[in-house]
Amino acid sequence: MNLKSNFQSLLVPLAAVFASLYLINPNPHFLNIFKDFTVTTLPSSSFYLAQPFTNNFGRDHHHRPHKKHPDSGDAGSICDDFPPGIPPPSTNTTSYLCVDRKGCCNFTTVQAAVNAVPDFSEKRTIIWINSGIYYEKVIVPKTKPNITIQGQGYTSTAIAWNDTAKSANGTFYSGSVQVFASNFIAKNISFMNLAPIPGPGVEGAQAVAMRISGDQAEFRGCGFFGAQDTLHDDKGRHYFKDCYIQGSIDFIFGDARSLYENCQLVSIANPVPPGQRGINGAVTAHGRVSMDENTGFAFVNCTIGGNGRIWLGRAWRPFSRVVFAFTTMSDIIAPEGWNDFNDPSRDQTIFYGEYNCSGPGASTALRVSYVQRLNDTQVFPFLNTSYIDGDQWLEVYK
Ligand SMILES: *[C@@H]1O[C@H](CO)[C@@H](O)[C@H](O)[C@H]1NC(C)=O
Ligand SMILES: *[C@@H]1O[C@H](CO)[C@@H](O)[C@H](O)[C@H]1NC(C)=O
Ligand SMILES: *[C@@H]1O[C@H](CO)[C@@H](O)[C@H](O)[C@H]1NC(C)=O
Ligand SMILES: *[C@@H]1O[C@H](CO)[C@@H](O)[C@H](O)[C@H]1NC(C)=O
Ligand SMILES: *[C@@H]1O[C@H](CO)[C@@H](O)[C@H](O)[C@H]1NC(C)=O
Ligand SMILES: *[C@@H]1O[C@H](CO)[C@@H](O)[C@H](O)[C@H]1NC(C)=O
Ligand SMILES: *[C@@H]1O[C@H](CO)[C@@H](O)[C@H](O)[C@H]1NC(C)=O
Ligand SMILES: *[C@@H]1O[C@H](CO)[C@@H](O)[C@H](O)[C@H]1NC(C)=O
Ligand SMILES: *[C@@H]1O[C@H](CO)[C@@H](O)[C@H](O)[C@H]1NC(C)=O
Ligand SMILES: *[C@@H]1O[C@H](CO)[C@@H](O)[C@H](O)[C@H]1NC(C)=O
Repeated sequence: MNLKSNFQSLLVPLAAVFASLYLINPNPHFLNIFKDFTVTTLPSSSFYLAQPFTNNFGRDHHHRPHKKHPDSGDAGSICDDFPPGIPPPSTNTTSYLCVDRKGCCNFTTVQAAVNAVPDFSEKRTIIWINSGIYYEKVIVPKTKPNITIQGQGYTSTAIAWNDTAKSANGTFYSGSVQVFASNFIAKNISFMNLAPIPGPGVEGAQAVAMRISGDQAEFRGCGFFGAQDTLHDDKGRHYFKDCYIQGSIDFIFGDARSLYENCQLVSIANPVPPGQRGINGAVTAHGRVSMDENTGFAFVNCTIGGNGRIWLGRAWRPFSRVVFAFTTMSDIIAPEGWNDFNDPSRDQTIFYGEYNCSGPGASTALRVSYVQRLNDTQVFPFLNTSYIDGDQWLEVYK
């Protein structure tokens, strides 16, 4: 891949994010935090970026300069380019709500729209969210199943907050967005935790962007931006397709049973100079507690890139289970690949598998002794949506 074009395609969307952020919250302190965030995420070496990154932004970018600022006093014109027919009228099976931060439709915050969804609705409610960053903490409680949130692209629509383990009374509560309801769907939107990236050894700095704790959840074309503990894939069966997931330490963690297909996993751990030893991150920390649990993370046709020297996973709990198949790994993956949390008794109970991966980080020659080089039969259960009983609940099967 061409480094320069990668770098430029990253800069452009971040500039967009920065611009829209200023419109929502022109607070210099917050801007500084965000600046830290962008500076630290702009790497000198390769980043893996999806094409939609530039495309989505392109649209937004060309419109923004012509828009009137909400404070300009010309209230009528703010909504002139708001798409007609949004939200569509509700039907027998689906209700629609709309969120726009400039006030051009039903709600200006995502939480207000979530609150408006009736409890235990059997109908699906689609919450359409216009471009922009929504600076708010959002909770979807257990009482509100069957919600879809629909953004305009993961580089143009985002929900962002900046709690940390310290500020939120624990990592589990630090999520910018926390979903406890079942049958949740998110499309084309990003979830961000903008807390400053901690220096090494700083305590209480874990900062979750998304906690997904409801069963049967589906994420398509979504972005997850954070550093330590970005995506709390807590419990239930989950599907992630075409997603962009960025972090440093344990950036996908939890005890869910999840399939990640065609996702980009990007490490923002500090670059490690050649010749220097040390590990400064891990893609996963799966938390399977016992043999009886049918949980584990499966990654199929993903890419791993970015900076640092990191493990594919470390055994947060003794029965930690993770499989990588058909995944391209850059040289940021340490040759040993995996870590048992410095507890050799876990080597017997961990299930860490690799199958037909490629790239400089994928060589299994120097891997830890307990890694499983899976054969065709062993890998089968992890390769498609049957792993998460997808035929019972994924939207495409309904
Ligand atoms: C989050 O940002 C706000 C606004 O800048 C700031 O006041 C607050 O201290 C930040 N919270 C944390 C936990 O850093
Ligand atoms: C929607 O529900 C109403 C009342 O139950 C029914 O009369 C109508 O035919 C339904 N419409 C559709 C498209 O199913
Ligand atoms: C949302 O806006 C639409 C169009 O203006 C309107 O028909 C609908 O009643 C609104 N819904 C709520 C819950 O306010
Ligand atoms: C709504 O949620 C309930 C409980 O999670 C589920 O049984 C039902 O199938 C869902 N309906 C739709 C339309 O997704
Ligand atoms: C913080 O966590 C402690 C221990 O779990 C709990 O006792 C306390 O009530 C929590 N405080 C808040 C504000 O949630
Ligand atoms: C999400 O974005 C992709 C890529 O831009 C697009 O093809 C797709 O139609 C979008 N999905 C929805 C539901 O808007
Ligand atoms: C693998 O993922 C890439 C995008 O990351 C996609 O273009 C390609 O179609 C996927 N291959 C398969 C077999 O799904
Ligand atoms: C594994 O990858 C190799 C080369 O990338 C390919 O030739 C082979 O067919 C793959 N195996 C399977 C089962 O797809
Ligand atoms: C795959 O590995 C399992 C466990 O080691 C073994 O029982 C099985 O025979 C192997 N299958 C093939 C097709 O090699
Ligand atoms: C997943 O793969 C298995 C084994 O090849 C197959 O039996 C099953 O039908 C596939 N499921 C889906 C949803 O494609």
